[in-house]
Amino acid sequence: MDTKFQWRHKHLIGLAELSRQEIEFILDTAKGFEEFSTRSVKKAPTLRGKVVVNMFFEDSTRTRNSFTLAANRLSADVIEFTKTSSSVNKGETLIDTARNLEAMGVDIVVIRHSAGGAPKLLSRSINACVVNAGDGFHEHPTQALLDIYTIRQVRGSLDGLTVGIVGDIAHSRVARSNIYAMTKLGAKVILIGPPTLMPAGISQLGVRVSHNLDEVIEELDVINMLRIQFERLGGNLFPSVREYSHFFGLTVDRMKRAKKDIVVMHPGPINRGVEIESEVADGPNSVILQQVSNGVAVRMAVLFLVNQATAIQINE
Ligand code: CP
Repeated sequence: MDTKFQWRHKHLIGLAELSRQEIEFILDTAKGFEEFSTRSVKKAPTLRGKVVVNMFFEDSTRTRNSFTLAANRLSADVIEFTKTSSSVNKGETLIDTARNLEAMGVDIVVIRHSAGGAPKLLSRSINACVVNAGDGFHEHPTQALLDIYTIRQVRGSLDGLTVGIVGDIAHSRVARSNIYAMTKLGAKVILIGPPTLMPAGISQLGVRVSHNLDEVIEELDVINMLRIQFERLGGNLFPSVREYSHFFGLTVDRMKRAKKDIVVMHPGPINRGVEIESEVADGPNSVILQQVSNGVAVRMAVLFLVNQATAIQINE
């Protein structure tokens, strides 16, 4: 870890705008928080007196609860905002909602929203720090950070690794954040999926594109299986779920052709039997639950750093 490096971002909107050094600094900071989960007293006073609000306009199990746990472990007070029981249902705007929460003393807003750009908009409209917990098809930066953290834990580094990201690239904010960060950290990224789920021009991001998992599976050191986002698929983008699984599902049979030590990842929630067979998801190569565990340390690091950037600005 570079001890002279000074973190200066008050918001975490995406990984596209971060350098390799900045991404590595977050991961190294997370390493310092990893051992918290094994302590008998799992708390640090780092964010004592600070208030974090979780503003989730979309469903979440992993991201929301790990941000809550991360904030609790740093001794922050946490407000759980839910759209379904809020005055958003009476027509209050996103910005008015956030400004009203800020008026109660909120220091950090963690936001998930179906509209790409919502966290950026908030960051320009309020004084609190803003952390993107997933916005539309845009980015899911903390998911990619925990993915990369997990790969580093298993393999030491991303330099020279070939990572396959399989599935619905077009609708995936996880894929975008992974692409930005993994290519910066030295991995070769292959996007694999049907042409209808592959955005035009995506290879300009420095990745290879394949429409045939069987042709590339032997090359992969890491395979990240994306969830088919049934809630976002407008039309019939593939003929049937059965056909999709046949060509792009990670099955026990396909695993026989993969490298013995291939690292199997999935951001969750899993559609078992669609993008991945249960035997593979729960098998010896899977790090899926390790990803979830690492999410807490990574989110502690993000909350700690954005708050620190605010303190630096006040002092300067
Ligand atoms: N990976 C992920 O974002 O999961 P949740 O939707 O449960 O937060």
